[in-house]
Amino acid sequence: MSQSPLEIRRLTYADLPQVIAIERRAFPTPWSLAMFVLELSKPSGICLAALRDGTLAAYCICSRYDTVWHLMNIAVDPDAQRQGIATALLAHLTWRVNDDQARFTLEVRRSNAPAIALYERHGYRAAGLRRRYYQDNGEDALIMWSTPAPRNGSGSLADVPNPQRIRTVG
Ligand code: COA
Repeated sequence: MSQSPLEIRRLTYADLPQVIAIERRAFPTPWSLAMFVLELSKPSGICLAALRDGTLAAYCICSRYDTVWHLMNIAVDPDAQRQGIATALLAHLTWRVNDDQARFTLEVRRSNAPAIALYERHGYRAAGLRRRYYQDNGEDALIMWSTPAPRNGSGSLADVPNPQRIRTVG
């Protein structure tokens, strides 16, 4: 059965009740409403919503710090996962940033194999660890970067700050 088309647009304050509902189902330690409000209030960030049939299916929050884009949050409704929605959001984010030289970074739980696989497919590479970053279980965060050199297929981490070769779990 064919699916309805995905609509991707800017996330708004009016989306936040649906965002919180997905966030609570998607994460063991969900963001609070105040954290989303803070991110939406930053004029330089890009926050996106993906909708099917007018219903929020996913969102991503990306902040800009000087020349670096930090992917702070991305989540897909558990009922809509593995349908390419996160892939579409990341592609749309790249399109909105519209800069071949842009550098993107993120932290992800070392055990979050689905997310790590998604990011690797999107050109991100593991480049360090933040030890015991997650307070709920003391898990390490994997730091990942998407930068021009690896994106261009050289496999080099030359333009990644403090690169380390990290073995991922899962
Ligand atoms: N297991 C293994 N690989 C997975 C996966 C899973 N459960 N989910 C995604 N991937 C990888 C695959 O390589 C997949 O390609 P494929 O389906 O052709 O094999 C690729 O990512 C793209 O998947 P996509 O359908 O675009 O991802 P999604 O829309 O299901 O969203 C997450 C992926 C991680 C955002 C989603 O699982 C989610 O919301 N998880 C909970 C929140 C979370 O962990 N967010 C990331 C925090 S850092």
